[in-house]
Amino acid sequence: MLFIILHILNADYSFAVDCGSNRSIRGSYNTMYEFDSTNLGDSSYYVTSQTRWGVSNVGKLYQAPNDSKIIYSNEKIQNAVDSELFLTARMSPSSLRYYGLGLENGNYTVLLQFAELGYPDSQTWQSLGRRVFDIYIQGDLKEKDFNIRKMAGGKSFTAVYKSYMATVSNNFLEIHLFWAGKGTCCIPIQGYYGPLISALSVTPKLYNLVGRPDVFSNAELKLATDNFSSRNILGEGGYGPVYKGKLPDGRVIAVKQLSQSSHQGKSQFVTEVATISSVLHRNLVKLHGCCIDSNTPLLVYEYLENGSLDQALFRDNRLKLDWATRFEIILGIARGLTYLHEESSVRIVHRDIKASNVLLDTDLSPKISDFGLARLYDEKNTHVSTGIAGTFGYLAPEYAMRRHFTEKVDVFAFGVVALEIVTGRSNTNNSLEESKIYLLEWAWDLYEKEQALRIVDPRLQDFNKDEVLRAIHVALVCTQGSPNQRPPMSKVMALLTGDAEVVEMVTKPRYIAEWQYRDGNSSYVTSSYFGSTAPEFTRQKEIDPLTQSPAITGSSHEGR
Ligand SMILES: Nc1ncnc2c1ncn2[C@@H]1O[C@H](COP(=O)(O)OP(=O)(O)OP(=O)(O)O)[C@@H](O)[C@H]1O
Ligand SMILES: *[C@@H]1O[C@H](CO)[C@@H](O)[C@H](O)[C@H]1NC(C)=O
Ligand SMILES: *[C@@H]1O[C@H](CO)[C@@H](O)[C@H](O)[C@H]1NC(C)=O
Ligand SMILES: *[C@@H]1O[C@H](CO)[C@@H](O)[C@H](O)[C@H]1NC(C)=O
Ligand SMILES: *[C@@H]1O[C@H](CO)[C@@H](O)[C@H](O)[C@H]1NC(C)=O
Ligand SMILES: *[C@@H]1O[C@H](CO)[C@@H](O)[C@H](O)[C@H]1NC(C)=O
Ligand SMILES: *[C@@H]1O[C@H](CO)[C@@H](O)[C@H](O)[C@H]1NC(C)=O
Ligand SMILES: *[C@@H]1O[C@H](CO)[C@@H](O)[C@H](O)[C@H]1NC(C)=O
Ligand SMILES: [Mg+2]
Repeated sequence: MLFIILHILNADYSFAVDCGSNRSIRGSYNTMYEFDSTNLGDSSYYVTSQTRWGVSNVGKLYQAPNDSKIIYSNEKIQNAVDSELFLTARMSPSSLRYYGLGLENGNYTVLLQFAELGYPDSQTWQSLGRRVFDIYIQGDLKEKDFNIRKMAGGKSFTAVYKSYMATVSNNFLEIHLFWAGKGTCCIPIQGYYGPLISALSVTPKLYNLVGRPDVFSNAELKLATDNFSSRNILGEGGYGPVYKGKLPDGRVIAVKQLSQSSHQGKSQFVTEVATISSVLHRNLVKLHGCCIDSNTPLLVYEYLENGSLDQALFRDNRLKLDWATRFEIILGIARGLTYLHEESSVRIVHRDIKASNVLLDTDLSPKISDFGLARLYDEKNTHVSTGIAGTFGYLAPEYAMRRHFTEKVDVFAFGVVALEIVTGRSNTNNSLEESKIYLLEWAWDLYEKEQALRIVDPRLQDFNKDEVLRAIHVALVCTQGSPNQRPPMSKVMALLTGDAEVVEMVTKPRYIAEWQYRDGNSSYVTSSYFGSTAPEFTRQKEIDPLTQSPAITGSSHEGR
């Protein structure tokens, strides 16, 4: 498995052509588009000197003023990633073929770039020209009656990109553009018809035997996200921005830009991505793959249209989350975590469970995102050596203090998320009255007074009391101070559904009692955290215990 990946990564079996151009051009992301200026006859064939690719034409342009079959344009091209590629194009009256020669067998992405250069947009008879042709890749019909201008929304001089997967089995690739007798024949002049293409590129597509992550090219993702347009930003977390995008095959994706490159080499990174993307469950966000030819690595996920749970709970009321839905969300997160910890062939401790890492699909079922990300940044799987990957407010004490982590840190964070779902508020909110700022503290106060139901989100008109009480109880068990007191996720599932009774004693954790000494003096929290065993929810590196307050708000990331 590793061998295959390394082999393809190290091989340079890609090529790119700037069709009709008399000079090579370095396009985006270092793609070298080779020149392709040979004047092809009515039936001729040209192979480049390094014999990596060739081009052939069949067909004669009757009465065309010149027979060069190369079109030149100085028009400004809309929507182009590399506009120089559209200064020239190749055309053929019948069949235009490009070949890849001596390619390593395997799967490739073929990206074709078109723009209609032959017909003006003006309201003249010339604008009535219609170019229609078929596209075959390896002999398979990919587009019938392809019309560049139609694809561009009826506009000429507008770039259109098409990408296809092609399997090379005899070291040979054929891209065939074929005029099947459709469209106009005589606009602007007699004999002006047939396929036209401005540029193409062929790059190996990496697959893993287990997880099959796609390795996307940066150009592909750039196209998918409108050049990483700020309009497509879905949000920004500790790793960097997340963009919405759409792939040519119709898949809607979320592209996460990792602002820091991982310490790993590219092949190790791809291997890790392959591992993560092999973990599939209905309550886990699917990782499609990654991109490694960009400045910093990108991860490509399935897009979930109803956003993250924190948005739905704390920020807007667009989604109506009634109790039944919320209980299903709690169960779904528990199921996803059970799978990660206990069932998957690759056991993963998430380390950053929180409301923003729970996304909602069309039916509002929850999917956990960002699992396995920590693997891309740490070599060791049992102890964090470089820092804490986690978010303040969800950190289990043993993790915050001793950087000791097992799956019980996820159980802890799950408890916090469950309480947030019940209450509809975030774990820490400084604009609330003093006694309510810290959700766990407030919940414990009311729980001890046997008034637990008072923490329920006031927006919930009616709810199943048993379920709510079970959820609160489970949340309190999960957030016990000592990891040993917290049940494994499979037990949590059983407790939530009522298949198991809570028999464990739930005691108010010491870390909460110790908070309460602070008497409104927030610096106490941090200093005591360092000086004693007081299990505080804070992080070590960024906070200077002597000068800074513990900053019990927001999310933070470290060691990434
Ligand atoms: N697959 C996705 N589908 C839809 N929206 C997403 C997807 N992934 C992320 N988002 C949106 O982008 C936002 C930012 O995500 P990101 O994971 O970068 O940050 P975060 O979850 O707040 O913090 P962290 O970096 O710790 O995960 C999310 O809150 C969510 O709204
Ligand atoms: C390439 O074509 C351009 C424009 O047609 C021309 O100005 C230039 O001299 C040509 N270059 C070569 C190397 O032929
Ligand atoms: C014929 O070639 C010339 C340049 O050599 C170019 O300007 C003209 O557009 C070409 N005609 C067609 C129909 O492509
Ligand atoms: C894409 O974005 C880069 C950097 O922001 C910019 O330099 C480039 O011109 C953009 N390209 C297009 C086609 O918008
Ligand atoms: C290429 O893709 C096909 C179809 O997706 C798949 O069956 C095949 O295993 C892939 N081949 C390689 C070498 O990855
Ligand atoms: C999820 O979001 C989509 C798009 O915003 C919306 O059409 C749909 O109704 C939402 N689903 C629910 C259950 O609200
Ligand atoms: C914090 O509480 C205030 C007052 O109730 C509320 O307006 C705000 O949305 C809350 N913020 C979060 C993140 O829950
Ligand atoms: C908070 O505690 C610190 C250290 O114990 C002390 O120096 C400081 O004066 C206290 N601040 C307030 C407002 O009580
Ligand atoms: Mg996230």
